[in-house]
Amino acid sequence: MNAESAAREHRVTLIPGDGIGPEITRAVVRILEATGVKFQWEESLAGAEAYERYQEYIPKELYLSIERNRVALKGPVTTPIGGGFTSINVTLRKHFELYANYRPIRNLPGLPTHYPGIDLLIIRENTEGEYVGIEHEVVPGVVESIKIITEKASTRIAEFAFAHARKEGRKRIHSIHKANIMKMSDGLFLRCARDVAKRYPDIVYGEHLVDNTCMQLVTNPYQYDMLLLENLYGDIISDLCAAFVGGLGLVPGANLGKDCAIFEAVHGSAPDIAGKNIANPTALLQSGVLLLRHLEETDAADRVQRAIETVYEGKKSLTRDVGGTAGTAEFGDAIIEALTS
Ligand code: NAI
Repeated sequence: MNAESAAREHRVTLIPGDGIGPEITRAVVRILEATGVKFQWEESLAGAEAYERYQEYIPKELYLSIERNRVALKGPVTTPIGGGFTSINVTLRKHFELYANYRPIRNLPGLPTHYPGIDLLIIRENTEGEYVGIEHEVVPGVVESIKIITEKASTRIAEFAFAHARKEGRKRIHSIHKANIMKMSDGLFLRCARDVAKRYPDIVYGEHLVDNTCMQLVTNPYQYDMLLLENLYGDIISDLCAAFVGGLGLVPGANLGKDCAIFEAVHGSAPDIAGKNIANPTALLQSGVLLLRHLEETDAADRVQRAIETVYEGKKSLTRDVGGTAGTAEFGDAIIEALTS
């Protein structure tokens, strides 16, 4: 760490979430602090637990904290199925206009896989599509769910994708769509992407139907470099791609806006394994690496990434989703040891 970095302290909003959220967040905070980077965490509840305590799913203090800090690390939050409150994730993304969901998919060393050498970047539109959540019962037995696609949001996410492709030296972007059926909405998304693509002649632009994309991904994921997707397709395809590199316990993500960012894993709150000290914190930890890069703590980010790779190469301290026997906390200890030795 250089002298300038040692003097800095980063105020970051911390949302432990629920399910496996508190366990993995605890492990990740310990590791990030072991880098020597100084953090001031502002911890806040969200979801059902927040409601019990404050009668609000997203307490005012959480909004104020993110408004102040413009950066947050977030554990997963459970969203009730088929009723109940609106997704906390969707609400925060919309409120802070975190329009781009950035999800890099890469292998870690030492893990057996049918797909070695994956390096795929998923860019998911994060604010509209089916996720606007506008649904109503027209008459009993008939429900209407509205999908919103706008020129503004589609152009904005395409711009983000092409600019990032250039920044990261990527060569190809595929827009993933269903414009043969949703001719107007997905058609508009494609038109916007094509218009932006014209300004980036150095990036090869292609389009695939989303159903075909699932088959293409499983048979030959190497044909893709970056995928640009609407909200729903991005959500689904991200989980599929997580399987290439060892599962949901590994894949990080960032919700990015103009001047605000929330870092969180792709996976959810995994209620089936919550509270057992068996969840894999790697996905949130790799989101922590993205957070460190965002804070311009490049040296610490590189060190944590190297420590993750060392522990995976060593195979001894892995969690059971990736074939090991270590607990969440023990995996965290091994990373700290690799980081500090
Ligand atoms: P999930 O991602 O929580 O779990 C799917 C499967 O992956 C489960 O078998 C789980 O045990 C496993 N898994 C997930 N993360 C893991 C980890 N870190 N280590 C080891 N295994 C892991 O998806 P599910 O079960 O469909 O959703 C559960 C809840 O999470 C739902 O309420 C959903 O709405 C919410 N959710 C929240 C998200 C967020 O806060 N960003 C994102 C996705 C879902």
